[in-house]
Amino acid sequence: MSRFTLPRDLYHGKGALETLKTLKGKKAMICVGGGSMKKFGFLDRAEGYLKEAGMEVKIFEGIEPDPSVDTVMKGAAAMQEFGPDWIVAIGGGSPIDAAKAMWIKYEYPDCTFEDMCKVFGIPELRKKAHFCAISSTSGTATEVTAFSIITDYTKGIKYPIADFEITPDIAIVDPELAETMPKKLVAHTGMDAITHAIEAYVSTANSFYADSLAIHAIELIQENLVKSYNEDMTARDIMHDAQCLAGMAFSNALLGIVHSMAHKTGAAFDDHGAHIIHGAANAMYLPKVIAFNAKDPTAKKRYGVIADYMHLGGSSDDEKVKLLIDYLRKMNDDLNIPHCIKNYGADSFPTEQGFVPEEVFKERLHDIAANAILDACTGSNPRQPSQEEMEKLLLCCYYDTEVDF
Ligand SMILES: NC(=O)c1ccc[n+]([C@@H]2O[C@H](COP(=O)([O-])OP(=O)(O)OC[C@H]3O[C@@H](n4cnc5c(N)ncnc54)[C@H](O)[C@@H]3O)[C@@H](O)[C@H]2O)c1
Ligand SMILES: [Zn+2]
Repeated sequence: MSRFTLPRDLYHGKGALETLKTLKGKKAMICVGGGSMKKFGFLDRAEGYLKEAGMEVKIFEGIEPDPSVDTVMKGAAAMQEFGPDWIVAIGGGSPIDAAKAMWIKYEYPDCTFEDMCKVFGIPELRKKAHFCAISSTSGTATEVTAFSIITDYTKGIKYPIADFEITPDIAIVDPELAETMPKKLVAHTGMDAITHAIEAYVSTANSFYADSLAIHAIELIQENLVKSYNEDMTARDIMHDAQCLAGMAFSNALLGIVHSMAHKTGAAFDDHGAHIIHGAANAMYLPKVIAFNAKDPTAKKRYGVIADYMHLGGSSDDEKVKLLIDYLRKMNDDLNIPHCIKNYGADSFPTEQGFVPEEVFKERLHDIAANAILDACTGSNPRQPSQEEMEKLLLCCYYDTEVDF
């Protein structure tokens, strides 16, 4: 038996933000990031709509990109004090993910961060508050997923919290919010979305339900991501839906080792000022992981199906896998994303010598590989890598060398 869970309601299309006027409750806490939602007027509008709904509103702001355990604890304390019956998270993946973890701690004050990280081990929520998520980036789809990614900066590791309990009650997917994204954010979040769809499609937990969403997401992203990056606003709006479809797929079919590796490399070099942005990490690792996973016959077939839906041509599955890898690499080029960590510059753009030093990468390789194997996303990957294989794969991601094992 398998389970398929989504938010109770999903409001999409321009004007969907106004749905906030219809929420029923007494107190809403809005959780928001560093300033983009305020700057573009969406925070004020959200606050106004909730007040129109008759609610008392408090704002918890300043949630940083790749939110920390510390921020989660602070937000939960603010919730404890205010006592909201609605948590409304607005912004990119970071503030929404942080708010999900705050929600757990608010409902269960004795719950530690370690407790939260027990996969599918969250106790029943909604005794104190319901959760509404409003996404402003077109990638993580956290507005519909059962995941929250929190970084433990003392260890330099991103931990996924995974449980259908944290799937929001209401998702608002209003493309107007995504129109203000700068190009780089469009590129990174868009490649995150296609990674979600592809990993979900080849995941060992795939199902007809998730497949249909994943495939349609891939088709839409293929058609619209580069256009959206080049400021075509119709394409930008479609991408907001496409990433959400990908999210519905992966929240149920789960992910694979592209994400395991992204989670374990993202913050691993922060002490060298070298943070690898989630979507960029995925974009660099995805072609490598496809080559690795395609050694599994079922995965190879499924990559072939993806290539067919993308009309890439090829007469054998081997050819189709190669064409898919080439296509994704070309997307990276079109979006100004490098192919490997060695060429990943401080500004995330391709450069001759990136900001993760070679000797530091090699020094930490063993531990990063071991942590990636232990990541919650590894279990549903079509091929289970050994420590040696994971290290080799990470080296290919560092140097952009061919995966032939
Ligand atoms: N929960 C999940 O299922 C899931 C899935 C994938 C990734 N993640 C996590 O999500 C985080 C990344 O989220 P993200 O990629 O959405 O970025 P983000 O939330 O970290 O935001 C990045 C930056 O973009 C700005 N921004 C956001 N929306 C904007 C807009 N519309 N216009 C202008 N600026 C805007 C923010 O202020 C911030 O400075 C990572 O921590 C990643 O690990 C979560
Ligand atoms: Zn992701």
